Amino acid sequence: MAKTPEKKDPETTGHSWNGIEEFNNPLPRWWLITLYLTIIWAIGYMIAYPAIPLINGATPGLLGYSSRGEVAADIEAVNTQNAPLIERINELELAAIAGDELVGGEADGFAYNGGKAVFATFCSQCHGAGANGAVGYPSLIDDDWLWGGSMEDIYTTINHGIRHEADLDTRLSDMPAFGEFLTDEEIAGLVQYVGALSEINGAEKTEEGEILFLDNCAACHADDGTGDRFVGAPNLTDAIWLYGSDPATLEETITFARFGEMPAWAGRLSEAQVRQAAVYIHSLGGGE
Ligand code: HEC
Ligand code: HEC
Repeated sequence: MAKTPEKKDPETTGHSWNGIEEFNNPLPRWWLITLYLTIIWAIGYMIAYPAIPLINGATPGLLGYSSRGEVAADIEAVNTQNAPLIERINELELAAIAGDELVGGEADGFAYNGGKAVFATFCSQCHGAGANGAVGYPSLIDDDWLWGGSMEDIYTTINHGIRHEADLDTRLSDMPAFGEFLTDEEIAGLVQYVGALSEINGAEKTEEGEILFLDNCAACHADDGTGDRFVGAPNLTDAIWLYGSDPATLEETITFARFGEMPAWAGRLSEAQVRQAAVYIHSLGGGE
């Protein structure tokens, strides 16, 4: 009778938990080979690519590759490609940029797109993502301009800012805080008068109000209240308000004045970026 070979239990590790023993099976060969391959791969990778962190950066690797280098090369390539366009923007007359066949055009133009990117990055915080403004920050999409809406005007505003005292060419004007010169009644009369100028608030135009306005305000806001771009004084007869037209806001504006400040961008943005931003703003609907 053939003897069935005795089935031998594999070796155990000698550990035993509550009578359960642990076999000491060898690891499968494919598994071990994969493990060794990954180790070899890792060593090769460390030699070929930047790997071990040092104080300033990492070991460079034999291939000399780095993802930062790749980004830098991409940027370099785009800059080289754009260089003639930038040069073109800088040498054109401001008014001619938007219509130029190389860099002009809305929506797909190089100048317009660049300006849009500048606006989203540097201007939208104050002027709003759609450039529609907020209290104290003018809308740039309408034709109501404080300082002017020609390419030239917008370019100057962006370059030098408004009441940005670090820039010697900044646009400057200073509405006085009339709380220091006028009585409460006089200010109340002016609130009425200014309200009446734009036919709101059910406000009344009184003779005293008119005299006060002509004496104190007309120098900047013009006799008829339509404002003066030379000093950035807003039109007080329309429905567009920088700070607001309700009596409490008017009283505050007249008593304390506002002194709105816009930073200067010359030096922080390149000449081409300022020009691009001007093209973009000018195209938004209110350009003159
Ligand atoms: C820190 C806030 C702030 C930022 C950022 C800012 N602005 Fe202004 N901007 C203002 C204020 C405030 C005014 C109005 C000042 C005044 O009362 O005259 C203004 C006014 C303007 C005007 C004049 C509008 C008119 O009616 O004449 C233009 C044009 C303009 N900004 C464009 C820009 C552009 C382009 C950028 C980005 C490069 C920018 N602004 C970034 C605050 C800002
Ligand atoms: C020296 C020039 C100057 C004089 C004088 C002046 N203003 Fe102004 N006013 C301005 C400027 C500039 C602004 C723009 C706001 C700012 O300063 O940020 C302004 C803004 C205003 C506003 C805010 C308008 C809005 O859209 O919210 C009101 C209201 C106003 N002025 C009323 C008056 C009255 C009333 C007087 C006279 C008592 C007066 N101003 C005198 C220059 C002047």
